[in-house]
Amino acid sequence: MRLHCAIISIAALALCTSADYFSVNFSYSGPNGPANWGRLSPSYAACSNGKAQSPVELIKTDIFMNKELKNIARNYLLANATLVNNEFNIGVHFEGKVGDININGKNYSLKQLHWHSPSEHKANGRIHDAELHLVHLTEDIKNIAVVAVLYRLGDPDPLISQFEEKLVELGNKKEIAIGSFDLEEINRSSRRRYYRYVGSLTTPPCKEGVIWTILGKLRTLSTQQLNLLKAPLNPKFKHNARPLQQINGRKIEMYYHPKTTTMGLM
Ligand SMILES: *[C@@H]1O[C@H](CO)[C@@H](O)[C@H](O)[C@H]1NC(C)=O
Ligand SMILES: *[C@@H]1O[C@H](CO)[C@@H](O)[C@H](O)[C@H]1NC(C)=O
Ligand SMILES: *[C@@H]1O[C@H](CO)[C@@H](O)[C@H](O)[C@H]1NC(C)=O
Ligand SMILES: *[C@@H]1O[C@H](CO)[C@@H](O)[C@H](O)[C@H]1NC(C)=O
Repeated sequence: MRLHCAIISIAALALCTSADYFSVNFSYSGPNGPANWGRLSPSYAACSNGKAQSPVELIKTDIFMNKELKNIARNYLLANATLVNNEFNIGVHFEGKVGDININGKNYSLKQLHWHSPSEHKANGRIHDAELHLVHLTEDIKNIAVVAVLYRLGDPDPLISQFEEKLVELGNKKEIAIGSFDLEEINRSSRRRYYRYVGSLTTPPCKEGVIWTILGKLRTLSTQQLNLLKAPLNPKFKHNARPLQQINGRKIEMYYHPKTTTMGLM
């Protein structure tokens, strides 16, 4: 589907060259590994020579409280979704209206989400067990805003539980419709603290100008869920986290609201 392809490619997943077959040429190790992504295609140049790349480590000395930042909306709706094996990660794609966030007056709509393992961003001095990316685009699909959630191993994540059994089938199918997908869990997740900086896509073409919002609250997923998310992937993508990139003087802004303020401000 056209829109589907546009969305996928803008989100760095350039998979639309053929209708029913795709294969990417980048990898997370070896000759096509992250250090060489920029050499695989002229359109991947930013992967090597970009100065505002992602992921980064959230280090205290780079972080500044910004009182102008606003709470991020949590208006995600129930939506029909498709579970997709992107070969280098597992994603959930949406058609139509799911929800949107407003950043600096611009409206970004949620289009897809996907997982990386281990985490790509480093926070509190460590790389975590997994990371969820909620990819939002402006209507003209030119601007990208990603909300990231870091996970540690623990209780199962209700978000993943919704399609957990279907992950087994993704080993030999590219996509599976999963019907109505409940994003209530994301609505509910605490937004008391988040970090904001401008970076890039973490996969080729490593496009810059991506507005990152990293939620301060860790979620948990079970070991079984993490294994199920990895199982359908090509073996070379079972580890699918890009190494940390230089901050190059970029500032990371922090939004924080203590629990004790007005009701509803979580
Ligand atoms: C890698 O894939 C990209 C995107 O499809 C393509 O433009 C590029 O030519 C490929 N590079 C090599 C070395 O195959
Ligand atoms: C999901 O798709 C079904 C079948 O096309 C439709 O009846 C239903 O209203 C859709 N649900 C949502 C939340 O869009
Ligand atoms: C944001 O965009 C979506 C989809 O284009 C639209 O449905 C929604 O009403 C917009 N929200 C705002 C606050 O403009
Ligand atoms: C998320 O919150 C919005 C606003 O409170 C609400 O309208 C919506 O139904 C909620 N979504 C889910 C899936 O619970």
